[in-house]
Amino acid sequence: MTSILQLLPLCALALASAVSIVDIPANSPKRVLRPDLYGYSIEPSSLAPYLQSDIASNALGEIAKIAGVPAPIRVGGNIADQTIYDKDLKVPSEAFPNDSTVDVLRIQKDWFKGWKEYFPTGTDFIYTLNLRNETTAWVNAMLEAQAAIRTLGDSLTLLELGNEIDHYINKGWRNASWGTHEYTQQWRRLTGQILSSGFYKNATHKPLFQAAVFADPPLVPDQHDEIDDFDIVNVTRAGLVNPRIIETYAVHLYPQSTCDEVRRARLSLNLLSDHSVVWKNISQFIPQVTAAEKAGSRLVLGETNSASCSGQSGISDTFGAALWATDYVLTAASIGLDQVYFHLGHQSEYSAFTPLPYEYEGEELEAGVRAHFLSHLFLAHVVAGNSGKGLKISPLAAANASDLSGYAIYKGGRKSSLEKLVFVDLGVWNSTTGLHNPSTLSATDSESSSPGNRPQRTLQVNTPWAEGTPVEILRLQGPGTNAKSGVTVSGVGVDVHTGRIEGEKVAETGIVGQRGVVSCGISQAEAVLIQKA
Ligand SMILES: *[C@@H]1O[C@H](CO)[C@@H](O)[C@H](O)[C@H]1NC(C)=O
Ligand SMILES: *[C@@H]1O[C@H](CO)[C@@H](O)[C@H](O)[C@H]1NC(C)=O
Ligand SMILES: *[C@@H]1O[C@H](CO)[C@@H](O)[C@H](O)[C@H]1NC(C)=O
Ligand SMILES: *[C@@H]1O[C@H](CO)[C@@H](O)[C@H](O)[C@H]1NC(C)=O
Ligand SMILES: *[C@@H]1O[C@H](CO)[C@@H](O)[C@H](O)[C@H]1NC(C)=O
Ligand SMILES: *[C@@H]1O[C@H](CO)[C@@H](O)[C@H](O)[C@H]1NC(C)=O
Ligand SMILES: *[C@@H]1O[C@H](CO)[C@@H](O)[C@H](O)[C@H]1NC(C)=O
Ligand SMILES: *[C@@H]1O[C@H](CO)[C@@H](O)[C@H](O)[C@H]1NC(C)=O
Repeated sequence: MTSILQLLPLCALALASAVSIVDIPANSPKRVLRPDLYGYSIEPSSLAPYLQSDIASNALGEIAKIAGVPAPIRVGGNIADQTIYDKDLKVPSEAFPNDSTVDVLRIQKDWFKGWKEYFPTGTDFIYTLNLRNETTAWVNAMLEAQAAIRTLGDSLTLLELGNEIDHYINKGWRNASWGTHEYTQQWRRLTGQILSSGFYKNATHKPLFQAAVFADPPLVPDQHDEIDDFDIVNVTRAGLVNPRIIETYAVHLYPQSTCDEVRRARLSLNLLSDHSVVWKNISQFIPQVTAAEKAGSRLVLGETNSASCSGQSGISDTFGAALWATDYVLTAASIGLDQVYFHLGHQSEYSAFTPLPYEYEGEELEAGVRAHFLSHLFLAHVVAGNSGKGLKISPLAAANASDLSGYAIYKGGRKSSLEKLVFVDLGVWNSTTGLHNPSTLSATDSESSSPGNRPQRTLQVNTPWAEGTPVEILRLQGPGTNAKSGVTVSGVGVDVHTGRIEGEKVAETGIVGQRGVVSCGISQAEAVLIQKA
């Protein structure tokens, strides 16, 4: 179905009530918008289960087709420091005591096989070595590095050394002297050993490193597991600077948490649906980005999701989480955190897709794709066409409220030109439909509903585009913030059971009006992409 609306207001919805006027500053600071800005972090003990179904392969294949590049994959997480290389293991990997509760993951070289073939062609991998077992010349980490480099070849872009190393004292893995100085020494020793090893020198493709991998957010004390001096500012001051081999530094962030009763009591879908909260959570990293760039490298959000300790069904797996993730990734990009890796566990409540059916809290959950995955499909369209000099992003001051965020996206180098606009309406609208998804807990299906008609507003954007320029509009839309299904990008959804695209695109096109004005309606709890057609 195609409808061409050549009149102003551009979109049918623009007949609605409140009008938000948005100016686009001529010379705003811009940041790189990478085509591979949205990635995944897979818990090492979940990798084998993921490879047992086609869901992730299909879903990420669809993303690669739209974005033009595959999503990067980090294989890391808590279990990275509980992974033991055992060359005599009779199977590729073995989780002990079992797949659901993992104390130790034993692996041998065959475990690394099949990753390249399973994920879309050209997928970049990051692999986290075990930094906990530091005794006897890092034997374990060296064996892991050798197997990863030999098996993954040019797909292995970066190695990490340890996961959330700022929790090592709390976990009893290091003593009180553990801090940026001791970490930097150990990091140099192990990377030195890798760089001078036969298997590294011999390799046709030599991976570089992602350093730091810190868990604790700089400004939120109740998310700190222990007292230490770890952050990017301090670690680069301590001398962990080497742009030749450090491609990126990584920090982790979970805005909310289910890890303890106090934080669990604060969990809320409303808190996720708030751009001011997203800004507070992300902007605390601005000095960290500066420190990474001063050191000649980049900073990425190497592991994240809506709530730590596996997330919370009813919040993490909703359309609200899709709108949150959309805003979160764009806010991160706009401060220079240019890649964001969403964490996946094969049985975690926050996973965007799960590979296998499982029993959980007395329910039989089906394998499948959850509503928040659609944020990735939408953002794949946002970054599409990122060729030549690439795209850049700038947040819009005129769309910067709790319930509305906006971004201008530019093409080209110094003489950049406005190419796309993205707006996210984060106002909560709770629906009475689309509340169930067979891959999530039915016990958390929402019982809340918003009264009356769903509010809409008209965005009136003053663009530098010439009058008459054709534009296309795509919408990330769903029944409501609380919905777990029925989410699409302009009618195109993802089959819950296969991860394949389904549905037909409802095209919305129009033209730029007088003086460059683009008018577009947006519903409460919706995101729109407006781009030159
Ligand atoms: C896995 O091991 C844990 C701890 O021993 C146990 O509580 C749980 O029942 C086991 N789960 C399965 C599926 O065997
Ligand atoms: C790794 O460290 C853990 C904890 O100290 C220990 O139990 C285990 O035996 C070590 N494994 C190896 C291979 O060094
Ligand atoms: C702490 O660990 C470091 C490194 O393993 C060691 O050199 C130091 O002696 C330890 N300090 C104490 C107080 O045990
Ligand atoms: C170097 O590469 C060759 C050929 O691939 C291989 O046989 C040899 O074992 C490698 N040496 C080391 C130290 O990895
Ligand atoms: C950085 O180091 C200083 C001095 O040791 C310390 O006071 C501060 O807390 C550290 N920052 C972080 C985020 O740990
Ligand atoms: C995110 O922001 C909210 C609201 O200010 C706050 O409650 C929460 O602790 C923040 N989380 C992190 C990790 O910054
Ligand atoms: C958005 O608002 C926050 C304060 O809430 C401010 O710090 C930030 O600079 C604003 N962003 C833009 C693009 O104006
Ligand atoms: C929307 O629904 C969720 C539960 O699904 C509830 O926690 C939240 O308070 C509701 N928000 C509003 C504004 O009604």
